[in-house]
Amino acid sequence: MSDNGLFPIIAQIPKAELHVHIEGTLEPEMMLHKASKNGIALPYKTVDDVRKAYRFSDLQSFLDLYYLGVNSIVDRNDYYDLAMAYFRKASSQNVRRAEVFFDPQAHTRRGIDFSTVINGLHDAAVDAQDRYGISIGLIMSFLRDLPEESAMRTMEEALQYKKWIIGVGLDSKELGNPPEKFANVFKRARNEGFLAVAHAGEEGPAEYVWSSIKLLKVSRIDHGYHIFEDSDLVRYVSVNQIPVTMCPLASVSVNYFKRVGDMPLKKALDNGIIFSINSDDPSYFGGYINENYIAVRKTFNMSKTELIKLARFSIISSFMNDHMKQKLLEEIDMW
Ligand code: HPA
Ligand code: ZN
Repeated sequence: MSDNGLFPIIAQIPKAELHVHIEGTLEPEMMLHKASKNGIALPYKTVDDVRKAYRFSDLQSFLDLYYLGVNSIVDRNDYYDLAMAYFRKASSQNVRRAEVFFDPQAHTRRGIDFSTVINGLHDAAVDAQDRYGISIGLIMSFLRDLPEESAMRTMEEALQYKKWIIGVGLDSKELGNPPEKFANVFKRARNEGFLAVAHAGEEGPAEYVWSSIKLLKVSRIDHGYHIFEDSDLVRYVSVNQIPVTMCPLASVSVNYFKRVGDMPLKKALDNGIIFSINSDDPSYFGGYINENYIAVRKTFNMSKTELIKLARFSIISSFMNDHMKQKLLEEIDMW
C-alpha cells in the first residue's frame, strides 16, 4: 500500500505512549509565554530563537536545553497547562493510554514544592481522562546525575501522593551513572508498591540494561538500544518478554543513530522482543507519537500488518490492567 494509504491507519489506530517526559512536551510558545508571565530570564526572545537552539550533539546538549526550558514552569496552573497541552495533542493522535514521566528534582531543586508539581499534573490527568477519555499514568523519574540521597528524599515526599503515581523511573545523564547507584531507592520504591522502569542502554552499555533488570528489577526498559550488543541479553529480554520503549526521532536527534534506519528495530522484531514507538521529548525532537510511527513506516517500509503489530505491542507493554488491555486490543483487531 502507498504511504498515503497507511498514514490514516497510523493516525486512527488506538495506541499507548509509554515513553514521554512531560517536561519534553514544552513547546517554545508556552516556554516563552510562561517565562514572561513568571519573570524568568531565558536566552531566547522568539519562537524561532528557541527552535534554532534545537540542534543537539549528544544527550547532554539536549538535557542542558531541556532543564533550561523547564525553568519557565513555576506554579500549579503552569504544570496543569503543560500537561493538558500534551494530553490534548496525544488524544488527537489517538493515544488511548499515556504513561508519562515527570522529573520532580528538575523542579524541587529550583525551589518548587513537590506538591505544586504533582497537583498540577494530577489535575490535568483527571480533566483529560474526563474530557478525552484517555487513560493516564504518571511515572516519577529520578535524575541519575544527582546522588541517590536526593532520589530517596524525593521518593519519601512522593509517598503521600502514592495513589496518583504508578511507578518510578530513571533518566538524565546515563553514562557514568549506572543503575547500581540507585539500588536502595528502587528497592524502597518497589516495597512501597511502585512499578519500576529505567532508561538503560540509551547511551550506556548493555551491562546497564542487565543491572536495571537484575538489580532494579524493572518491568520495562526505556530505549535499550545497546541490548543488541549482547546476544545473551537479547535472548533474556525476548524470553522474559520485557518490553522496550523505543524513540526513533529522539535517538536520531541526539546522535545515537545517523538515521532512523540504523535503529535496531528489525532486530527487535526478528528476535521476538516486544517494543513500542514513542516520542520521548516531542517538542525538542521534531514530532509526537504519530510522526514517530510515520518515520518508522517510511524507513522500514512497514506493512499494515506490521503497523498493527506495533500498536498491539504498545498496549501489551503498558501497565494497564488486563481488562483495559483486552478492550483496546479488540479495537485494534478490527483493523
Ligand atoms: N534520556 C535521558 N534523560 C531524559 C530523556 C532521555 O531520553 N528525556 C528527558 N530526560
Ligand atoms: Zn526518555
